[in-house]
Amino acid sequence: MSEKEIILEVRNLKTHFFTNMGLIKAVDGSSFSLRKGQTLGIVGESGSGKSITSLSILGLVPKPAGKIVEGEILYCGEDLVKKSQQEMREFRGKKIFMISQDPMTSLNPVFNIGNQLGEAVRRRQNLNGRNLKEKCIEILKQVQIRSAETRINAFPHELSGGMKQRLMISMALACRPEILIADEPTTALDVTIQAQILQLMMEIREKYKTSIILITHDLGVIARFCDYVLVMYAGKIVEKADIKTLFKRNRHPYTKGLLNSLPHLGEKQHRLMSIKGQPPDLLNLPAGCPFEPRCDYAVEKCSFEYPSDESVGKGHQVSCWRWREI
Ligand SMILES: Nc1ncnc2c1ncn2[C@@H]1O[C@H](COP(=O)(O)OP(=O)(O)O)[C@@H](O)[C@H]1O
Ligand SMILES: [Mg+2]
Repeated sequence: MSEKEIILEVRNLKTHFFTNMGLIKAVDGSSFSLRKGQTLGIVGESGSGKSITSLSILGLVPKPAGKIVEGEILYCGEDLVKKSQQEMREFRGKKIFMISQDPMTSLNPVFNIGNQLGEAVRRRQNLNGRNLKEKCIEILKQVQIRSAETRINAFPHELSGGMKQRLMISMALACRPEILIADEPTTALDVTIQAQILQLMMEIREKYKTSIILITHDLGVIARFCDYVLVMYAGKIVEKADIKTLFKRNRHPYTKGLLNSLPHLGEKQHRLMSIKGQPPDLLNLPAGCPFEPRCDYAVEKCSFEYPSDESVGKGHQVSCWRWREI
């Protein structure tokens, strides 16, 4: 892929939670960039900091415990971390849009579909009355919501999970964001619907050259849709690479473990391997590499010194003392 213009650049982002139990470094020094029209995947086990990374970009870090304590999030050169809540609210409606695992976190249960979609359309286009309604119906049809003319009067809770997610995608279409963040958008859906939802997102990408951040724990989804991937473990990006390199020449034992747990075509679910050991406790992280207790390649140094980021190829970085051996 040619080097396209960078639309979002995250530099040394640290988002921490100050809880009664102690300090949780949910995102701890992440740096990455998103290019125009690119689909960037973020993968990692549950609790590794994927959602907090996206909420940091959106200016929606859970308060009061969570805080961006360091770093920059540059959108076309402007630092989003420095923006006010009001500025971020406008930014979210126009430039960046999130589809989450649970659409009900974004949908308002007391407004019908027409109201909510209409609101999203009006932020972009000066339409009212019948014209607005017709535009909404057109968009609902684009995301294959059947009987759009009547469904427009329905309330979110009257829709199935797949339909709610289609509605979110229709709102994304209305918003025409430059960046679409999809945080496990299909986790709650069955496989067929999942494929349709992802397909719709990719149509948005083709049509509007939208940049997408796609968060998932499903490497199969990553393989099909992403250009570039960040692998997260315990709040840190442990490997980043373009999609080909990630699958063919990965250098982090954790990435390797994730790939091994991917079921091969035709294999039954029970042969799925999972990474041995427990995910790390973010309240009690070791001084060294947090993957060390689960790592087959670990040597003594790994237990007391966190590995620095090594550039191991073009656009390929890894944090592992043993990358040469992997
Ligand atoms: N509201 C919160 N309060 C305290 N800690 C939180 C909160 N949300 C997330 N965390 C911490 O941040 C870590 C990363 O969370 P998250 O980004 O949601 O993980 P995931 O990779 O599953 O999306 C969690 O393991 C948790 O310890
Ligand atoms: Mg999450």
